[in-house]
Amino acid sequence: MAEAILEVRGLVKHYPLTKGILFRKQIGAVKAVDGVDLDLTAGETLGIVGESGCGKSTLARMLVHLERPTAGAIRYKGEDITRLSGRALKAVRRNIQMVFQDPYTSLNPRMTVGDIIGEPFEIHPEAAPKGSRRSRVQELLDVVGLNPEYINRYPHQFSGGQRQRIGIARGLALQPEIIVADEPVSALDVSVQAQVVNLLDALQSEFSLSYVFIAHDLSIVRHISDRVGVMYLGRVVEIGKDAEIYDHPTHPYTQALLSAVPVPDPEAREHRERIILTGDVPSPTDIPSGCRFRTRCWKAQERCAQEVPLLAVPAHLTVVPGPVQHPSACHFAEERHVVPGGQEEPTGGGTGGTGASGGQAAEGGDSGDGTEGGTGGGGGLAPG
Ligand SMILES: Nc1ncnc2c1ncn2[C@@H]1O[C@H](COP(=O)(O)OP(=O)(O)OP(=O)(O)O)[C@@H](O)[C@H]1O
Ligand code: SF4
Ligand SMILES: [Mg+2]
Repeated sequence: MAEAILEVRGLVKHYPLTKGILFRKQIGAVKAVDGVDLDLTAGETLGIVGESGCGKSTLARMLVHLERPTAGAIRYKGEDITRLSGRALKAVRRNIQMVFQDPYTSLNPRMTVGDIIGEPFEIHPEAAPKGSRRSRVQELLDVVGLNPEYINRYPHQFSGGQRQRIGIARGLALQPEIIVADEPVSALDVSVQAQVVNLLDALQSEFSLSYVFIAHDLSIVRHISDRVGVMYLGRVVEIGKDAEIYDHPTHPYTQALLSAVPVPDPEAREHRERIILTGDVPSPTDIPSGCRFRTRCWKAQERCAQEVPLLAVPAHLTVVPGPVQHPSACHFAEERHVVPGGQEEPTGGGTGGTGASGGQAAEGGDSGDGTEGGTGGGGGLAPG
């Protein structure tokens, strides 16, 4: 296995809850991220899935240094970057860029596309000398499949898919090694989602990028990811290669999420098992003792309230050869086929959510399709 370009260990972000106007007193904390461990290997895509509020965006913001962790370490090529500042931090930040969810609000409406994409050069002038910036921005527009002649246009003159391409071009400007994409296609039409995912895929090979790809859509995550981490209430509860997670899940929460993914094949749909979770997601201010999933888990036993399950290959599964041998934070982890015969890799554009809030694994609509469309280059315009 190639070496890890990014290692995350025990990463924590707690937002203090305070009371009082004059004498602010901390009365608790929102435990948005509460001990995340993961590795990102050079050149791979690590997908992160989980319900709304489980801490995905908070994790993303810490990875790109938009927020400082409360505790834990983020190591980039072996160096802990969590406490860096000044010039050393600036150098590292150049290599880890972010693509945001909402192409409507993440682009400044008063700036031209050229200024938006070229803005990182103001902070890192060494990345493109002044005289070459315009042509560099035009190159970037071309790379993401937009017409370089649109350099003087404003964001409102583009469609949602095109705006996300602008966001991606901006993310690429400093030639980073890692891109953290936080729900990069969630705000887009289903038909356009697949095009943007395919663009990210093509750019990864072209520029040897490593991705952390965050989404609540399990189908899209499978399409793009080499490995997938499942988050619940601020922690990764199961992680492995995409086939390990999707076809051989061992954590009850993953099994419940997968059971809610729409299955396009009517026969498979008939035989798939639906797991309906009961109970609400606990508040991140009041996380259950032991296993944090226990209040919704149908397998919970006394031990689950006492002992925190660690994210590791469960001891009783180390003797079972094959894909069940992957880290799963459950005392009683066991394989369960929720979708009969394993799933074919979806073609992208699916709409499978990660289950509804309120503790119910919801029935979603049918998986969408439409992987055609520009994957960058050639100056073609993304429809939509
Ligand atoms: N600045 C903040 N102050 C206090 N609480 C916060 C802050 N930012 C996030 N939170 C809380 O932390 C938890 C995790 O939020 P986060 O946005 O990381 O979740 P998410 O998984 O990205 O959700 P979504 O899928 O809806 O984007 C939520 O309970 C959220 O309300
Ligand atoms: S440790 Fe217990 S409560 Fe947690 S997922 Fe496993 S069986 Fe369920
Ligand atoms: Mg989010």
